[in-house]
Amino acid sequence: KKAVIKIDRDYKIGPIDNRIYGNFIEHIGRAVYGGIYDPGHPLADDMGFRKDVIALTKELKVPIVRYPGGNFVSGYNWEDGIGPKELRPRRTELAWFAIEDNQVGTDEFCEWSRRADTDVMMAVNLGTRGADAARNLVEYCNFPGGTYWSDLRIKNGYRDPHGVKLWNLGNEMDGPWQIGHKTAEEYGRAACETAKVMKWVDPSIELVACGSSNSGMNTCYEWEATVLDHTYDFVDYVSMHQYYGNEKNDTPSFLANTMDMDRFINHIVSVCDYIQAKKRSKKVLNISFDEWNVWYHAFADNAKAEKWREKPAYNEDQYNFEDALLVGGMMITLLKHADRVKVACMAQLVNVIAPIMTENGGRIWKQTIYYPYLHASLYGRGTALNVLVDAPKYDCKEYTDVPALESIAVESEDGAYVTIFAMNRGEEDLEVSCCLRDYPGCRVEEFITMAGYDLKQYNTADQPDRVIPQSSSAYEMEGDCLTVTFSSYSWNVVRVR
Ligand code: AHR
Repeated sequence: KKAVIKIDRDYKIGPIDNRIYGNFIEHIGRAVYGGIYDPGHPLADDMGFRKDVIALTKELKVPIVRYPGGNFVSGYNWEDGIGPKELRPRRTELAWFAIEDNQVGTDEFCEWSRRADTDVMMAVNLGTRGADAARNLVEYCNFPGGTYWSDLRIKNGYRDPHGVKLWNLGNEMDGPWQIGHKTAEEYGRAACETAKVMKWVDPSIELVACGSSNSGMNTCYEWEATVLDHTYDFVDYVSMHQYYGNEKNDTPSFLANTMDMDRFINHIVSVCDYIQAKKRSKKVLNISFDEWNVWYHAFADNAKAEKWREKPAYNEDQYNFEDALLVGGMMITLLKHADRVKVACMAQLVNVIAPIMTENGGRIWKQTIYYPYLHASLYGRGTALNVLVDAPKYDCKEYTDVPALESIAVESEDGAYVTIFAMNRGEEDLEVSCCLRDYPGCRVEEFITMAGYDLKQYNTADQPDRVIPQSSSAYEMEGDCLTVTFSSYSWNVVRVR
């Protein structure tokens, strides 16, 4: 079958904010303990951080990492995680029913992020706590010194402020599962008052108000409208979260979920713009898509999990090839909305629904989803270009008129490269033609593809390279016209220079 991708250099969606390649570390399962932190590991550094995890985080060029939750943050006393480690309390952790011994806290995580060349996106607890704890945390992290909380940070060994610039006002407060769940009115008021005092302590910070937990929430959209009515003038972003699963083993529908994600973003943008219009405001409110991924493989194990363990193996989804395809499609969808999505965090980084897996004290390996995320982070920086795709369509149980090809192009920051990202979710190979007349004399520098694998194939510690990208020569360049084959069920990255 044939398809066409049209690229026009002047048809820009907008500059890409590199923070869309962000990630997330929550105090959940083995993400922190056994993931980034494993003091007994042969590769642990002087603070107990695994150097191999740091190396992969750097390889992914993760620009920002959200912390410490997630649901965890809604019951967290941040003061438990600072000061001498032997004095830190052991707590019952009510989001995931584990024991939290607080050996990693704010200072350690900020130090980890420096070692991993990334920034911190910090969440404050608006479940069991409120404005007072939040403004104290801003003071602890960002105030230079000479006040109670900033001097305590200095006493704890951190003379320089952590300089945390981006903050979440709570997490998924619309969800009945959340510790301290609130109505939109209750949350909107709390978020507004918390935002005010946080920005009074440090006017340079940016704030994210909680949007809906997912597009299926009954309160979705009404929640955003009410919350933004209260907070519009005080916040910079509204959050979006979305996970997809293939519980019904319906691959055509599963891979078409980018259509739901696309619609969800369009609708949230509409609500933001409605509140802007209603308030006659000049300010445009953007989106922090601060949780996204595939998540479903480990649900059955979670249901059987015992309570009150430390470092429980929890939510350790083993990602297969079709998951990598959807993750690639989700990255493309974020890029398609580069004009309004300014921050996005894959959830999560290590062990828990993650691209990186580790054994306690042992090996490390890359899951299938690592690769599309890596490619987008490395080559998807610059300007997003709105491509026109003409491809065969299919109908499936959940969607109709699904284009077999999901695609976007990115012109690099220096204008030297244009990179085409494409997911072929169809059952047939596609011979794709693409006219590159806006880039006269260009040549394909590299065609990377993930194709030909069993859709359910995955990587393990013993066989870490079962599903990996390959370099392909299935393309031809005649003048400025590129013809390239995107195999059935494939993830593709064509770098043209
Ligand atoms: O990322 C795992 C969990 O998913 C987070 O704690 C929560 O915010 C979401 O429901």
